[in-house]
Amino acid sequence: MATPTLSIFILSSLLILSSFSNAQTQPKAFTFPITKADTDNQYYTTIQIGANATTLNVGIDLGGNFLWFNSEEYLAAADSYRPILCGTKQCQIANGIGCIFCFLSPPVPGCTNNTCSDYSLNPFTGTQGYSGLGQDVLRVVSTRGAQYKVNNFPFQYSDPVLREALATPTEGLIALGRTRVSLPAQLSSAFKIREKFALCIPSSESRGSMIIGKTAYKKPFQRISESMLTTPLLRNPVSINGNEVIGNLTIQYFIGVKSIIVGKTPLALNKTLLRINKRTGEGGTSIRTVRAYTSLHKSIYAALVDEFVKAAAAKNIKRVASVAPFGACFDSKTILFREAGPDVPIVDLLLQSKSVYWRFYGWNTMVRAGEGVICLAFVEEQPNLSGPTTSIVVGGYQMENHLLEFDVAAEKLGFSRSLLLRDTSCDMFGAA
Ligand SMILES: *[C@@H]1O[C@H](CO)[C@@H](O)[C@H](O)[C@H]1NC(C)=O
Ligand SMILES: *[C@@H]1O[C@H](CO)[C@@H](O)[C@H](O)[C@H]1NC(C)=O
Ligand SMILES: *[C@@H]1O[C@H](CO)[C@@H](O)[C@H](O)[C@H]1NC(C)=O
Ligand SMILES: *[C@@H]1O[C@H](CO)[C@@H](O)[C@H](O)[C@H]1NC(C)=O
Ligand SMILES: *[C@@H]1O[C@H](CO)[C@@H](O)[C@H](O)[C@H]1NC(C)=O
Repeated sequence: MATPTLSIFILSSLLILSSFSNAQTQPKAFTFPITKADTDNQYYTTIQIGANATTLNVGIDLGGNFLWFNSEEYLAAADSYRPILCGTKQCQIANGIGCIFCFLSPPVPGCTNNTCSDYSLNPFTGTQGYSGLGQDVLRVVSTRGAQYKVNNFPFQYSDPVLREALATPTEGLIALGRTRVSLPAQLSSAFKIREKFALCIPSSESRGSMIIGKTAYKKPFQRISESMLTTPLLRNPVSINGNEVIGNLTIQYFIGVKSIIVGKTPLALNKTLLRINKRTGEGGTSIRTVRAYTSLHKSIYAALVDEFVKAAAAKNIKRVASVAPFGACFDSKTILFREAGPDVPIVDLLLQSKSVYWRFYGWNTMVRAGEGVICLAFVEEQPNLSGPTTSIVVGGYQMENHLLEFDVAAEKLGFSRSLLLRDTSCDMFGAA
């Protein structure tokens, strides 16, 4: 009779001890590198997963649901993989859809019996994959440089077909969306840190960073972050199933763009398109790292090109033949270069009030599209989608070298002006 009591006593004092030592070493924030792939503006980070710490490059999907990947190297060392079983709390947290019974002997990641399942989405091709969810240990590095383990990090080991159109060094996508299984949500619950992340996306050939949690930044980023403008993060209440290209709108981040201004001229836009239609999910403005350039509804795009070309002509910039997918291209010899890049008309996304706008200078609005040709780096939305379409999708090129803070807990987005105006860039970003 004495033994069980004693062991309970030892157990509880161990628990107290371990929670005490945890409290002392409790990290506040974690850091992840961000690299831009050579082609097609895909941005990825590097993670270590499994007991053998397989290193994986995974694209960053701001509006994604959960981590998915397909990697031979992981498979070869996946002894620590555990399926998420149907009917479990983890399955509920992952918001899994359905249960699969997959009998392989021995079982492999993605094909195990009685397993909580869900659809993963490749947002570049629109391909969806349905398979079992699992969990394994994820290693993360705090902003102080210490390594931590997140046990039971949920993900999907996906079919190789899902890797189509991913940039060469990447084997899947990691999700930052509004779910309980995204990377920020998981770190927030595992370490009791604020559900908040800062993204600083690099332009080519440099390396940016993402910081998840709350911490001071190194100079001059702390000052920059204190002087950022903020705008509410909005929700689109319509969840789309079966619309591969868009995905689940409820988990993406939306902001409230009221108008677009080119130079000093506000575009005449159909205001209905700028609002989220709460019934159909159409309209509004989302922010997505899986789109190379900001895409605009046909009528918004036409108005932007029209005004931009006019304002450029007033600066003696010569228009040349368009290079797809861009609708306005110019002779680069007729454009001056300044600290914020090509000296072209400024484009502002006006937000909740006249003093809150996200301003884009030449570095973020112009892209080289051949010898002597640079084009307005905005595109018309693909006319080919089958479901409700978001009118403005802010893409990766426009986010480069801006500090962005997604305070998910407070539903706020903070954004800096172009870091290049302050003689810095995302490759300098980090914690203090
Ligand atoms: C780690 O890798 C070795 C060799 O590839 C393998 O034998 C071992 O089972 C792996 N361990 C785990 C936990 O996956
Ligand atoms: C698969 O799981 C179900 C539910 O737990 C169980 O009834 C069944 O026996 C399992 N089948 C195999 C082949 O393990
Ligand atoms: C979309 O995501 C929300 C929030 O996670 C969830 O409640 C809803 O069931 C999802 N819808 C679909 C179709 O996956
Ligand atoms: C504005 O857009 C809405 C939604 O697409 C459309 O129903 C309406 O006809 C448009 N109004 C004008 C004046 O074009
Ligand atoms: C939609 O896209 C597919 C493949 O990209 C193409 O075959 C089809 O013609 C397009 N449909 C429309 C209406 O543009």
